[in-house]
Amino acid sequence: MAVVKIEALGKAHDVANFDCGSTDLNHWLRTTARQHQKNNTSKTFVLIEEESPAVVQGFVTMAIRDVTPKDDLPVAMAKKLPMNVAGYTLARLAVSTNARHRGYGERLLFEAMERVCQAARLVGGFAMFVDAKDGAVDFYKKYGFLQLPNDPDILVLPIASMPEFPNG
Ligand SMILES: CC(C)(COP(=O)(O)OP(=O)(O)OC[C@H]1O[C@@H](n2cnc3c(N)ncnc32)[C@H](O)[C@@H]1OP(=O)(O)O)[C@@H](O)C(=O)NCCC(=O)NCCS
Repeated sequence: MAVVKIEALGKAHDVANFDCGSTDLNHWLRTTARQHQKNNTSKTFVLIEEESPAVVQGFVTMAIRDVTPKDDLPVAMAKKLPMNVAGYTLARLAVSTNARHRGYGERLLFEAMERVCQAARLVGGFAMFVDAKDGAVDFYKKYGFLQLPNDPDILVLPIASMPEFPNG
């Protein structure tokens, strides 16, 4: 089994040949992710295998999210919250079509959760949200994300419901 690492997107990573089967996600990684990385509008982390460190097997992008009215949240989750809550967005997550079903999507999702836990410990934040694309709703539901009642393609996982991470 390959030894894998997740690292911040950098110049050495070959984004041009990444293919996850989604034109939008490919295009975004190839043309936009590095610019956002530079100006801090979002942060992208790539999963690589040690024997081919330039080849991007998958990536996850995270960003700050606009405040969400508590009325948009699942009812049970909204109890005891202020009118609006701050959170984070898992903006994009994709695994190369050649590298599916190796657990890389899960590794990237847990990486995002751990980083959000670290950020929330320092500056607060209620939850991580995800705009699920390309039929990935069931993928996120496996990990405890709940759909927003009025917009089921958006899912939410409170930080308090995330696993405990050693560096979280
Ligand atoms: C969704 C995606 C990231 C999953 O990546 P992956 O590396 O193949 O997933 P993993 O191997 O880590 O799978 C982890 C678990 O999720 C399940 N899973 C994977 N894709 C799934 C999907 N689309 N729906 C439901 N479950 C899914 C797997 O069966 C596995 O479950 P198991 O451990 O019980 O067997 C990948 O299919 C992908 O990049 N799709 C195209 C882009 C996309 O849809 N991104 C999400 C947009 S927000």
